[in-house]
Amino acid sequence: MIKVAILGYGTVGSGVFEIINENKELLTSNIGDEMEVKYVLDLRDFPGDPCEEVLVHDYNIILNDPEVEVVIEVMGGLKPAYDFVKSALEAGKSVCTSNKELVAKYGAELIKIAHSHNRNFLFEAAVGGGIPIIRPINMHITADKICEITGILNGTTNYILTKMDKEGADFESTLKTAQDLGYAERNPEADIEGFDAVRKIAILASLAKGKTVDFEEIYTEGISKITAADFKYAKVMGRSIKLLGKCKNEDDAVVASVAPRLLAPDHPLYNVNDVVNGILVRGNMVGDLVFIGSGAGKLPTASAVVSDVVDSIRHLNVPTTILWDEEKLELEDFSKSRKKFFVRTDALKEEAETVFGAVEYVDAGISGEIGFITEKISEEDFSKKAEKLGKVISRIRVEE
Ligand code: HSE
Repeated sequence: MIKVAILGYGTVGSGVFEIINENKELLTSNIGDEMEVKYVLDLRDFPGDPCEEVLVHDYNIILNDPEVEVVIEVMGGLKPAYDFVKSALEAGKSVCTSNKELVAKYGAELIKIAHSHNRNFLFEAAVGGGIPIIRPINMHITADKICEITGILNGTTNYILTKMDKEGADFESTLKTAQDLGYAERNPEADIEGFDAVRKIAILASLAKGKTVDFEEIYTEGISKITAADFKYAKVMGRSIKLLGKCKNEDDAVVASVAPRLLAPDHPLYNVNDVVNGILVRGNMVGDLVFIGSGAGKLPTASAVVSDVVDSIRHLNVPTTILWDEEKLELEDFSKSRKKFFVRTDALKEEAETVFGAVEYVDAGISGEIGFITEKISEEDFSKKAEKLGKVISRIRVEE
């Protein structure tokens, strides 16, 4: 009998408890042994809930119990999660987590500590919710250089953009609907400004490159400036607008970003709608691999966590290879990255052409402005030209 402990009985924690009990027989055969939740840690009480019998309020009970082999951290945030996880690993326990903040900031360090104790630090649920993406990168796409990862990594923003696209609604009212339906937080900043997605792309980039990609160095732009008018132009172009986390080899450098982009219908992520997440991994041998599924939610996220628990018990004293060194990966300056831009402006066509040269016009029938697509230019050049034009209403990057 293998004993585990769950830290945090929120949405994901209660989902983990539910799956372990509901799928008990299946998990026993997958593991080859029985698993039991010996403790659930939470500050709150849950009268009448099935977790009541194993609920504790003091983390030290778990830390000091040698019977607990695996600690499941689903509290979120850095404090006290970092201290709890570090001390569990140092005590020789494996840790499985869904905490992208923790993994983005301390992933390499925590993997190293786990391995120095012959244990595992696993985090499948930290990116893409229920979608298997961490394990495929670590264990399956090992014959390839990964040249690109492009992902719709945030369900909340994908839901909002899908609704704006399909219903022609504006950003504010769609955000409010998303909040009323429980898809968006009351404080939605982390999702809509891209702070959630940037941590996720930093984790994927670190795994793909084997070195630490600092999420704070990744260019990040959210969706709060996207308007119903932008979608009118997108429709004329036959494109959709998606918030994409990207990490891509450009020449000899690695460029990473989170930003809204215009996607054509032949792009593998074009049809990834609503709260669904999608991740495109491009290997230099295998070509394109696409992973699509539930990127958030209680049971999908808990399912990924429990799959890590199964893995960590199957390999109780065998560290799983995860190539993610503490050494920092120097990203290419985003201002050097080149692409086409879609621009809305109230300048005249001849002014736009004087500054940008040959452009491709897009007519969405909106009076008092023009829309056009530039040639492929660097971010730096674009900013200079946009400043020179001086009348830019909005601009969105065009995905190749
Ligand atoms: N807020 C996140 C999302 C939850 O909307 O995708 C999953 O990380």
